[in-house]
Order: sequence, then structure tokens, then C-alpha cells
Amino acid sequence: MTQQLQTFLDIATEAALAAGAVLQGYLGKLEDSIVEKGRPGDLVTVADKAAETVILDHFHRHLPEHAILSEESGQHGDRENQYLWAIDPLDGTTNFAHQYPAFAVSIGLLIDGIPQIGVIYDPFHNELFRAAASLGATRNRRPIHVSNTTELSKSLLVTGFAYDRRETTDNNYAEFCHLTHLTQGVRRSGSASLDLAHVACGRVDGYWERGLSPWDMAAGIILVREAGGVVSAYNETPLEIASGRILATNSYIHHSLSTELSRVPSLTAWGQ
Ligand code: IPD
Ligand code: CA
Ligand code: CA
Repeated sequence: MTQQLQTFLDIATEAALAAGAVLQGYLGKLEDSIVEKGRPGDLVTVADKAAETVILDHFHRHLPEHAILSEESGQHGDRENQYLWAIDPLDGTTNFAHQYPAFAVSIGLLIDGIPQIGVIYDPFHNELFRAAASLGATRNRRPIHVSNTTELSKSLLVTGFAYDRRETTDNNYAEFCHLTHLTQGVRRSGSASLDLAHVACGRVDGYWERGLSPWDMAAGIILVREAGGVVSAYNETPLEIASGRILATNSYIHHSLSTELSRVPSLTAWGQ
């Protein structure tokens, strides 16, 4: 199994690096290719699609028997397949469109629904984050570990706001304010996969977000876990990827962050 995971990890790495090169080629050259997909602010560009094509071609060539769920083209292969790759060819499209340097390629493998492999590549900073179950987590091939901050009051957190934020009161604004008062700060990068990678390498101590899709978080979940962190639902029960809600921390602040999220008034109805 370990050898097999290593092989899968290497295949995913090649795909992520190739897609990252495609993204770099398009940076600042999108011209009129930026369009809204549906909700205001939910963008897609020629770069998302070109990077996705490179990744899909790579997987179809090397792992044709595996299923894929990719953001721009949806499901490929059997939904019941034990092996499902959750792929975001460009996580942080809004940033990319504005040439704000926080975007990444995110490729995660779910085996029987559980994240087992993760590759997140930030081509602008040339940072390659990788992890596989029981094989550890790395940044540019060197081991990484979560931070050792034990108090919320000394922590730096990161979060995000989903594209449906204008349509729901469950939009994370109240949580953002609440935690901003209790910590050294809450950042909003605009790339969920990078947020998780930054928890894994200790740049931030914790991350929470709602409204995510499997391709936003599959790779980051295994990365945080292999770096020594904890990933769960907001209320510390086991994470349900389909819920779109995630709480990921260095482990030490996990319980206090969960408790504070449960104290936010607008969240009395989240029920998980
Ligand atoms: C988005 C980013 C953002 C998060 C959104 C995601 P995209 O992905 O990860 O940080 O807040 O919920 O949809 O659209 O740039 O691939
Ligand atoms: Ca995304
Ligand atoms: Ca995307």
C-alpha cells in the first residue's frame, strides 16, 4: 500500500507541477477570458480550463482506472470507484484574475471517501506541498509540522467566505468578527487549499470555513493531518467532506476554536 501511495503521489505531483506551469504562463495575460460562472464573483478563466486539461490528460494516461471529480468539468468515471481524485486546477481564481499572488493547484485522492494523498502547488512562490497517509507532509520535499501555539489569544487564524455569502446569513461574517477579537488576527487569503497548506507548515495556527467543495479541501486535509494537525467538523465530530464545513488546526487550539465558533450567535442553527 505504501509503495502504491508513493506512486500515486508522484503521479499527482507531476500533474500539479505541469498545471502550475500553465497557470504561470497565463498570469497577467487573461485579457477578456474572465467570466462569472453563476454567482457574482465566482469566476472562471481560460487558465482554470487549460490547467484542468493538463491534469486530466495526465491522470487519464497514468491512472485511467481511477475516478475524478474536477471543478470545471465535474465527474469522470464511476461514482462508486474506490479511488476518487478531487481536483481544483486553480484554487484562488479571483486572486489569479487580479494577479494577487495567492493561488494554487490542489489535487487530493480519496480512497473509500477518506483523503489519503494531497498535493498543493503554489506556482507563484514555487512551493510544493505534499502528503500521503503515514508518509508525512513536506514543503519542497522537506518535512513540515504544524505550529505549537497553545492559546487562542496568541494564535493567527485564516478563514474564507463562500460565493453564496450575499444570499445567506450563514456567511461567516459574525465568526470572522468574533475570532478577530480573540486572536492576534484572522487572515483571508482567497485560496482554501493554501490556507490548509499554511496550517500544515505552521504559518497559521488554525483555519475554518463553510461552503467548500471536495476539491477545495481533499488535498489539504491529509496535509494537515500528516503534519500533526487535527481536522474535523466545527463541533469536533468527524469531518464530512460533503458538508462543506471544515475546522483544521495545529491540534492545541482545536477545542477552544470549536468552542468559540459555537458561541457565535448566528451559528445556533448550524447543527454540526
Ligand atoms: C475558492 C477559494 C476561496 C474559498 C471559496 C472557494 P476557487 O475556490 O478556495 O478561498 O473561500 O469558497 O470556492 O473558486 O478560487 O477555486
Ligand atoms: Ca477552489
Ligand atoms: Ca478553482
